[in-house]
Amino acid sequence: MRLEKLLEPFSIGTMKLRNRIVMCPMATGYCSELGEVTDKLRDFIEERARGGVGLIITEMAPVHGFGSTKYTSLMVEHDDRIPGLRSLAEVAHRHGAKIAVQICHGGRFASPRASHGMAQSASGFSGKTQWDSSSGGEGLVREISTEEIEQIVETFGEAARRVKEAGFDSVEIHGAHGLLVHEFLSPLVNNRKDRYGGDFAGRTRFAVDILRAMRKRVGKEFPIIFRISAEEGVEKGQGIKDSVEICRLLEKEGLDAIDVSSGTAVTDPLPDFPPFPPMCFPRGVFLNSAQAIKEAVKIPVIAVGRINDPVFANEILLQGKADLIGMARGLVADPELPNKIASEKLKEIRPCVGCMICLHTLFTRRPIECLGNAAVGRERQFALKKASHAKKVVVVGGGPAGMEVARIAAQRGHRVLLYEKDDRLGGQLNLASMPPYKLEIRGLTEFLISEVQRLGIEIHCGVEVTGDLIETERPDELILATGATPRILEIPGIDSDMVCTAWDVLNGSVEVRNKVIVAGGGTVGCEVAEHLAEKGHVVTIASQSAAIGKDIEQNTRRYLLKRLGDLGVTVLTNTKTMKIENGNVILGTYGSQWSAQCDQLVMAKGALPDRKLVGSLKRSFPGFFIIGDALEPRSAHEAIYEGARIGRVI
Ligand SMILES: Cc1cc2nc3c(=O)[nH]c(=O)nc-3n(C[C@H](O)[C@H](O)[C@H](O)COP(=O)(O)OP(=O)(O)OC[C@H]3O[C@@H](n4cnc5c(N)ncnc54)[C@H](O)[C@@H]3O)c2cc1C
Ligand SMILES: Cc1cc2nc3c(=O)[nH]c(=O)nc-3n(C[C@H](O)[C@H](O)[C@H](O)COP(=O)(O)O)c2cc1C
Repeated sequence: MRLEKLLEPFSIGTMKLRNRIVMCPMATGYCSELGEVTDKLRDFIEERARGGVGLIITEMAPVHGFGSTKYTSLMVEHDDRIPGLRSLAEVAHRHGAKIAVQICHGGRFASPRASHGMAQSASGFSGKTQWDSSSGGEGLVREISTEEIEQIVETFGEAARRVKEAGFDSVEIHGAHGLLVHEFLSPLVNNRKDRYGGDFAGRTRFAVDILRAMRKRVGKEFPIIFRISAEEGVEKGQGIKDSVEICRLLEKEGLDAIDVSSGTAVTDPLPDFPPFPPMCFPRGVFLNSAQAIKEAVKIPVIAVGRINDPVFANEILLQGKADLIGMARGLVADPELPNKIASEKLKEIRPCVGCMICLHTLFTRRPIECLGNAAVGRERQFALKKASHAKKVVVVGGGPAGMEVARIAAQRGHRVLLYEKDDRLGGQLNLASMPPYKLEIRGLTEFLISEVQRLGIEIHCGVEVTGDLIETERPDELILATGATPRILEIPGIDSDMVCTAWDVLNGSVEVRNKVIVAGGGTVGCEVAEHLAEKGHVVTIASQSAAIGKDIEQNTRRYLLKRLGDLGVTVLTNTKTMKIENGNVILGTYGSQWSAQCDQLVMAKGALPDRKLVGSLKRSFPGFFIIGDALEPRSAHEAIYEGARIGRVI
């Protein structure tokens, strides 16, 4: 399918783009602690430029150390950063992409470490900085003075000058997500009494002053983009009507394009949507705002927010809802996405499913990773090299680990045989896509299946591998990716017919009775609880931990917990499932026990590695590897990473 509109060249002011695909800004955690460009960041950018994207907007780069949201943010604070920045621009240009830097000030979200515990904000808060988990501890927030505002305006101007001097094609102002510029725009946050607060003119003055200061340094011809949170998503926050007027004003002031995001990074109260929407939000979640702004201005509009399907992206352009499509996670998952669109290989695109691993790693102060793309941040080490000689590789298990190792080994020239005892490939990923709002996982499963089929791997479904079969096959390399089985508690009464596992529920092999206790409050426990509550069951989660869903990425978790609350799911924490007695489940906490009435007990107590095959092997193999959950039950992220790694070393 030819997606002409997406592939059309387009211009933002004087900047000519080879297509309409924009890589949106993404903090990566790949810079040094001083915010310097590293090989890792350069490789990440180069890989995306090579993949055919039209414009790359780099991660947010604080204009001032105090405004740094992360300790490893790309910095544009001093002229001594220009050579490093120039090397980024060069790698993008080498492959025909244009590149901009997003400049920002973190405001109340500045890292307490960077701001020395006192973040600067449009308005004073009696509370602490909001971005604690990512910024490294707690800090306080204070209102900046009018004099400081004037200084910060100048630092934006100077940063833009550096960006231009470093050879970039454009610069973006981060005016979104609750950071400093957005704080001023927001009627909720900005309660200043000076000329930078109050009415619309006061609240927009900071953004306008910044734009003017930047324009003065970079001249008329250099494109400036503004990222807006069109809908803040919190009560009394910035709404679309205000945002349309802000865009009109900035257009009049000589802005070249608007990048329409939404949301704020505040965590309390829960906003309608976060700036980084997880898979529980629909595709194109911010699209209506982009369209409203597009109808109000003449300058180009970039739409962003879970636009991870190229056909959908093309449709948005054809319908005139935006001029350019912004993708962030889609290009993390597959840097070659634009080239694959151009060569009409849509099925070969590894999709972003909105799993949030990238943000989870970032929020836990690690460089970004990706569920499906193990090569992110390892572009150089993981570059595929042909094997020196072709081997016969047998992979046992057609879950994500098995399919990934098979895929990589086949690409390197090995002959690969993939065995799966089930009648279909996918392993636990087939279960993972069953709970509400997790259908997107199916996209990753379908990609892996389609790839192992395309690469000519010899696939044997419905065959349980035994030691004898291995003797017959005599492989050079044997990879065990046999996954895991659900863990059943060893408690009195566990043989009762009222007990089943979360896996049984999700694969539909049991008829679940009305009143359910789910034992276990991890990812699977919470998800199966929601699955059952949505079907009308009365559900209680009994978790031994002090909180449920602790292993879930924080944005996904917050919205999941809210939905569980809305569905009336009862949550018992610090609660142990003790035994089953006379058709009742006995729960216990801190020495006391009680009988909880229910019809069904659903086990969601983790999994145990399935290594039965090891015992039946007749001999050892020099080329033998166990990967994924068979090594230790964790997640598909580790399973795919291990498949990707072992596929490269055999
Ligand atoms: C409900 C649920 C939700 C989940 N959600 C997520 C999520 O959102 N994100 C995430 O990252 N992870 C999630 N996980 C975990 C993730 O699915 C697993 O960690 C991952 O699938 C492990 O991959 P694997 O390939 O190692 O094993 P598996 O996926 O278990 O695959 C192993 C395969 O080996 C086959 N097999 C076993 N023995 C043999 C044999 N002798 N011969 C032939 N075939 C054999 C099995 O039939 C199976 O298909 C979820 C899991 C569940 C159950
Ligand atoms: C890992 C990660 C880091 C991000 N960092 C930034 C950032 O530095 N500046 C910004 O404006 N948005 C940032 N975003 C938001 C993205 O630019 C984008 O708006 C959002 O992810 C939605 O687009 P997507 O669905 O295509 O990923 C980040 C998103 C991710 C996933």
